[in-house]
Amino acid sequence: MAVAEALVFDMYGTLVDPIRIWKALEQDTGKAAPRIAEVWRQKQLEYSFRLTVMERYEDFERVTRKALDHALATAGSDLSDDKKAALMAQYDDLETFPDVLPGLRRLRDRGQRMLVFSNGSPRMLDAIMRKAALAPYFEGYVSVDEVRAFKPSPRTYRRVAERLGRPLGDIRLVSSNPFDVIGAEAVGMKAAWVNRGGGLFDWLGSPPDVVVESLTELAHLLEAGDVG
Ligand code: 2OP
Repeated sequence: MAVAEALVFDMYGTLVDPIRIWKALEQDTGKAAPRIAEVWRQKQLEYSFRLTVMERYEDFERVTRKALDHALATAGSDLSDDKKAALMAQYDDLETFPDVLPGLRRLRDRGQRMLVFSNGSPRMLDAIMRKAALAPYFEGYVSVDEVRAFKPSPRTYRRVAERLGRPLGDIRLVSSNPFDVIGAEAVGMKAAWVNRGGGLFDWLGSPPDVVVESLTELAHLLEAGDVG
């Protein structure tokens, strides 16, 4: 692959881990914490899909807060507003996966053009890119807030292409989320699926031409010219 191909990175699940937030839930919810974190994430995405199908929009912070209420309710837990606010603050400070900073460093060093592209609201993305020390690797971000629709609406991917001033086929989405990979490829973008946990892809589509276990592996593939 020529360096000319721009890379756009999904945020939640790809650069930072939204599931490890269970550690912040553990004190109040005990053994249910990992399950609550999983339901929180699933519901957050479900709400984003449903709003988009209804042609309605609420920003990702509101969607995330409502999904937290749902996840806690399903576990029979209700936390005080202060505790929920603390959990939402934690969402701005999610941990990066261990391969992220080393991988991004290698990609940046080879002159790769890189942008974050996320469902996150501009406020969330500003905060997390600062706290997770991600900002220096990217020329910025595109938030779906700009088109008031969530992934995988085609409008979101097209906005990225507009921002980069490049045809969709010259851009590669890097994402751990199969629905995002399929959404990008559906409009003609390329994709790399980051499959850290050896998970299953998705039956709505096939895995993309690039499947890696880490961003360091992605950097290695690109350096070796093994990506067509
Ligand atoms: C993101 O857009 C889909 O949550 C994922 O960052």
